[in-house]
Amino acid sequence: MRPNSQNLFLIVFCLIQWAEAANVFFPLVLTWQNTSVAGNVRPVIHSNFQFPGPELRINQGDRVQFAVTNLCPFNVTVHFHGIEQLGTPWSDGVPGSSQRPIVTGQSFLYRWTATEYGAYMYHAHHRGQFEDGLYGPIYITPTATETRPFSLVATNNTQLQAMLAAERKTSPVLLSDWRLLTSEEVWAAEVASGVDSYCVNALLINGKGAVSCLPRALINSLITPNVQAVLGNETLTDIACFPPNVTIVQGDYPHNYDAIPPTMFSGCTPTQGEQEVFTVNANQQFVSWDLTSASGHLHLIFSVDEHDMWVYAIDGRYIEPVRVNAINLPNANRYSVLVPLNKPRGDYAVRLISGSQQQILNTTGILRYQGKPQLNRPSNPWVLLNGLNATADTVFLNDSQTIPFPVVTPSATVDQTFKLTIQHFNASYLWTLGNSSFNLELEESQPLLFNQTAIPSDLIIRTKNNTWVDLIIIHPIHKHSNKHFVIGSGTGAFNYSTVAEAMQEIPEAFNLVNPQIRDTTDTVVAIFEPTWLVLRYQVVNPGAFLLHCHVQVHQSGGMALAILDGVDAWPTIPPGYLLDSGFF
Ligand SMILES: *[C@@H]1O[C@H](CO)[C@@H](O)[C@H](O)[C@H]1NC(C)=O
Ligand SMILES: *[C@@H]1O[C@H](CO)[C@@H](O)[C@H](O)[C@H]1NC(C)=O
Ligand SMILES: *[C@@H]1O[C@H](CO)[C@@H](O)[C@H](O)[C@H]1NC(C)=O
Ligand SMILES: *[C@@H]1O[C@H](CO)[C@@H](O)[C@H](O)[C@H]1NC(C)=O
Ligand SMILES: *[C@@H]1O[C@H](CO)[C@@H](O)[C@H](O)[C@H]1NC(C)=O
Ligand SMILES: *[C@@H]1O[C@H](CO)[C@@H](O)[C@H](O)[C@H]1NC(C)=O
Ligand SMILES: *[C@@H]1O[C@H](CO)[C@@H](O)[C@H](O)[C@H]1NC(C)=O
Ligand SMILES: *[C@@H]1O[C@H](CO)[C@@H](O)[C@H](O)[C@H]1NC(C)=O
Ligand SMILES: *[C@@H]1O[C@H](CO)[C@@H](O)[C@H](O)[C@H]1NC(C)=O
Ligand SMILES: *[C@@H]1O[C@H](CO)[C@@H](O)[C@H](O)[C@H]1NC(C)=O
Ligand SMILES: *[C@@H]1O[C@H](CO)[C@@H](O)[C@H](O)[C@H]1NC(C)=O
Ligand SMILES: *[C@@H]1O[C@H](CO)[C@@H](O)[C@H](O)[C@H]1NC(C)=O
Repeated sequence: MRPNSQNLFLIVFCLIQWAEAANVFFPLVLTWQNTSVAGNVRPVIHSNFQFPGPELRINQGDRVQFAVTNLCPFNVTVHFHGIEQLGTPWSDGVPGSSQRPIVTGQSFLYRWTATEYGAYMYHAHHRGQFEDGLYGPIYITPTATETRPFSLVATNNTQLQAMLAAERKTSPVLLSDWRLLTSEEVWAAEVASGVDSYCVNALLINGKGAVSCLPRALINSLITPNVQAVLGNETLTDIACFPPNVTIVQGDYPHNYDAIPPTMFSGCTPTQGEQEVFTVNANQQFVSWDLTSASGHLHLIFSVDEHDMWVYAIDGRYIEPVRVNAINLPNANRYSVLVPLNKPRGDYAVRLISGSQQQILNTTGILRYQGKPQLNRPSNPWVLLNGLNATADTVFLNDSQTIPFPVVTPSATVDQTFKLTIQHFNASYLWTLGNSSFNLELEESQPLLFNQTAIPSDLIIRTKNNTWVDLIIIHPIHKHSNKHFVIGSGTGAFNYSTVAEAMQEIPEAFNLVNPQIRDTTDTVVAIFEPTWLVLRYQVVNPGAFLLHCHVQVHQSGGMALAILDGVDAWPTIPPGYLLDSGFF
C-alpha cells in the first residue's frame, strides 16, 4: 500500500527529528598566555588559543561531549552555566561538589544532553579563574516544534518572517568586566589587606574594550545622591570607584591599606584597546543578539544609541517580548534581543556601562549599517555614564514585569523552606551564605557527589527528589542544575518563617501566577536596609549542586552553600568519573 501524504510527512518528520539529536564533540584546550586585553598585557586563560572562548552551537536534544584539556600551570574546571545536567550531575564542573579539579596536562570529558534551548555560557569554576578569561558562549537552537513568541508583537507576516530569520542567525554578545590583576593577585591582595575588592578596570564587548580615565570634574558631576550617601565624606577614586575605606560597604573589620596593589581601587592609565564593530544589513530588518554577562563583579547596562530592543528570551527561555532601550544585566544572566534596523544608515554607539553603584565605567562598540552612510553626526545615548536615563523616553527593562512564554505555574505549596542569610564573616572579603562560610580550600575536598559527608554539614542543605523547595535569600545568587521560579522579593526584614506566612501579610510581594523562570537571580543591593528574595524550585535532578553568589570575589570569599538535591534518589556515578584525577 502506498503511504498517504500524511504518513509520508510523519516519516520524514521523524527522520529529521532523529537526525537533529546529534553527538557533538567539542574539544577545548586551555592555555595561560600573556595577551593584551583592554590595551594592557597580562596572563589570560585562552580557550583554543582565543579569548573569549569559541561558541558552542548545537541543537536542542544534542548529546554533547565537551573535552577539556588543561595546559595551564594550575588546576581548572569548566561549568556549563544554566545547563540543567539532567541525569549527568557529574558533568556540572564544580570542584569539591561534582568532580576533582583537572590537573595540568590532563583532560576531562564532560558529557551532557542539551535538554533545553537558548543562550547559555561555559566558564571556569575553580577559584577566581572566571575573572582570568575562561568563558565562552553556548547557543542551543530550539526544535522546530518549540513555539516562538514573535507573533505576539509582529505587525504582519513579513515582519514575523524577518524576526524568525534573525533568530536563526542569532549571535552571542559577551559582556564582561576586566581587571588588570589576575584572580590570584586579587585574592592575595584581599588576604593581605583584608578588603573586599569591588572595583574593576575596564568593560569588554566580545573581549574588546579600553581603559578610559574620566576627568575628575566629570566623575564628580556623575555622583548621584544615593552614591554620595554611601560615600559620606569620601569621593570616588581616579578609576571612578568607591575607595577601600568606605566602612558601610567594607564592614567594621581591620584593614591594611598599604597592602593594596595599584589598580585595585585606584591608579588609572588610559589605553587605546580595541573596539567591537557589529556590521548589519538593514534589509534584514532585525539583528538578534544573545547578550551574555560574563561579568565577574559589576552589573552591566547595555544599550544601542537611538535603537529599540525587543527582549524575547531571558536565561535561555522565551518571554512575551518587551520593547526597551536599556537592559541592566546581573552577573551571568542572558537576555536575547531583536534590534530593529530601522534607522538612517550609519554608525551608532553600542554602550556598555556599569550598573553597579560602586563604580562609574563604560566601553563603547559600534553598530554599523552596510551601505553609504546617511547619518553624519554622533549618535545619541539612552543612558548616562552613571546609569541614569539620558532622555525622558528611555525605557529600561524591568525584569519583574516580564512574563514567561509559555507561562508555567509553580506549586502553591512547598515541602521545605530554607532561610539563608548573607553576612560578612570575620573580614571584609569573607562571607557566609546560611550559617557558615564555604572556604576556597573545600574545592579540593572529596566531591560531595561521591561522598555526602565530605564537608561539614552546616555547609549543606538536603532535599528529597520530586519535592518543592523555597530558598529565602538576599544578594545575587545562582543555583546550579534546574531553573527556579522567582516568586517574591522585597526590602526590609523578612520576619516570617515561610512564604505561606508572609503571603498572609504581604500578598502583593509574591507572584505565583506567572513568575519569572531563571537560573540566576539578584536582589536590590542591600546597603541601608536588608532586601530579600524567594526562589521556589522543584527537585527533579538528584545530585550535588552549588548555590552561590555570582560575584566572583564573593564566591571565593565563601558566599556559597552545597545543595544535595534528591538525597533519597542519589545517582550512581559512572566509574570513569569517580577517578581522583582527569578522565578522558
Ligand atoms: C608574562 O610576561 C611577564 C613579563 O615578561 C613574564 O614575567 C611572565 O612569566 C609571562 N607570563 C606568562 C604566562 O607567559
Ligand atoms: C590540583 O588538583 C589535584 C587533584 O584533585 C590535587 O591533588 C592538588 O592538590 C590540586 N593542586 C592545587 C595546587 O590545589
Ligand atoms: C509590515 O509591518 C512593517 C512594520 O509595521 C511595515 O513597515 C511593513 O510595510 C509591513 N509590510 C507589509 C507587507 O505590510
Ligand atoms: C564628615 O565631615 C564632617 C565635617 O568635617 C564631620 O563633621 C563628619 O563627622 C564627617 N562624617 C563622617 C561620616 O566622617
Ligand atoms: C579614605 O581614603 C581616601 C583616599 O585614599 C582618603 O583621602 C581619606 O582620608 C580616607 N578616609 C579615612 C576616614 O581614612
Ligand atoms: C567612556 O565614556 C567617555 C565619555 O563619553 C568616552 O570619552 C570614553 O571613550 C568611553 N570609554 C570607552 C572605553 O569607550
Ligand atoms: C529621566 O527620567 C525622568 C523620569 O521620567 C525625567 O524626569 C528626567 O527628565 C529624565 N532625565 C533626562 C536627562 O531626560
Ligand atoms: C518593576 O516592576 C515592579 C512590579 O511591577 C515594580 O514594583 C517596580 O517598582 C518596578 N521597578 C522599577 C525600577 O520601575
Ligand atoms: C577570625 O579571625 C580571627 C582573627 O583574624 C582568627 O583568629 C579566627 O581564626 C578567624 N575565625 C575563623 C572561623 O576563621
Ligand atoms: C567521606 O568523607 C568523610 C569526611 O572527610 C570521611 O570521614 C569518610 O571516610 C569519607 N567516606 C568515604 C567513603 O570516602
Ligand atoms: C542554620 O542554623 C539554624 C539554627 O541552628 C538551623 O536551624 C539551620 O538548619 C541551619 N542552616 C543550615 C543551612 O545549616
Ligand atoms: C526525580 O523526580 C523527578 C520528578 O518527579 C522524576 O522525573 C525523576 O525520575 C526522579 N529521579 C529519580 C532518580 O528517581
